[in-house]
Amino acid sequence: MKHELVEKNVVWLGILIVVAIAFGGIVEIVPLMFQTSATKPAEGLPMRTPLEVAGRDVYIREGCYNCHSQMVRALHEEVLRYGPRSTAGESVWDHPFQWGSKRTGPDLARVGGRYSDDWHRIHLLNPRDVVPESNMPGYPWLAESPVDGEEVQAMMTALRRVGVPFTDADIAGAPQAVRGKSKMDALIAFLQSLKAPQPAKQTAAAAQTGERS
Ligand code: HEC
Repeated sequence: MKHELVEKNVVWLGILIVVAIAFGGIVEIVPLMFQTSATKPAEGLPMRTPLEVAGRDVYIREGCYNCHSQMVRALHEEVLRYGPRSTAGESVWDHPFQWGSKRTGPDLARVGGRYSDDWHRIHLLNPRDVVPESNMPGYPWLAESPVDGEEVQAMMTALRRVGVPFTDADIAGAPQAVRGKSKMDALIAFLQSLKAPQPAKQTAAAAQTGERS
């Protein structure tokens, strides 16, 4: 009888569907908020420099994520092609993070150090100068546009508010750190920073204090 009531009454049916889906969502999402591997920075995760923060902003502004993911999946062929698989702890300081599955171009999570700065400069001006079959657009205007130091300070302040541990000194020094740099310089610095975190080598001191979890 009760079942019939729910099936024949669209309001009850609607309310109970929402409750069922919300419950499923909560069960999946809430535990992640308390899982150390998803909330704590990976060991050896470097802080972004002011120039890299500016570059990341250009990356998002220009919509590079429409064609590039920054997530190496835990699949043999991906690890062979790109490098160590991505972990959640690598992205805890990224707001928003750049995981995804849309790959018109290759994944970029491990592109840092693969090419020289000059290669990136030519590639970003006109990709076909280095990769003739490329369908990636060029971004020549970035070379002409300077990075605004105060804007970077505002970005770093906003990031700090959501948990990135920038110090007052980091933020105060940002305009000096990006002086004279173009948006292209910033974007390249950001691309070169995309690497698997390198856990500190086991020094004698680290061995004494034991491993951090
Ligand atoms: C329309 C899709 C598209 C957009 C948008 C795009 N790319 Fe690409 N990108 C590609 C394709 C396809 C390739 C592979 C061919 C090549 O190297 O040019 C590529 C290659 C790259 C590579 C070389 C990766 C490697 O491992 O060889 C880098 C770095 C890169 N893109 C950065 C960027 C950045 C930064 C932006 C935003 C400013 C961007 N891309 C926007 C499609 C795109």
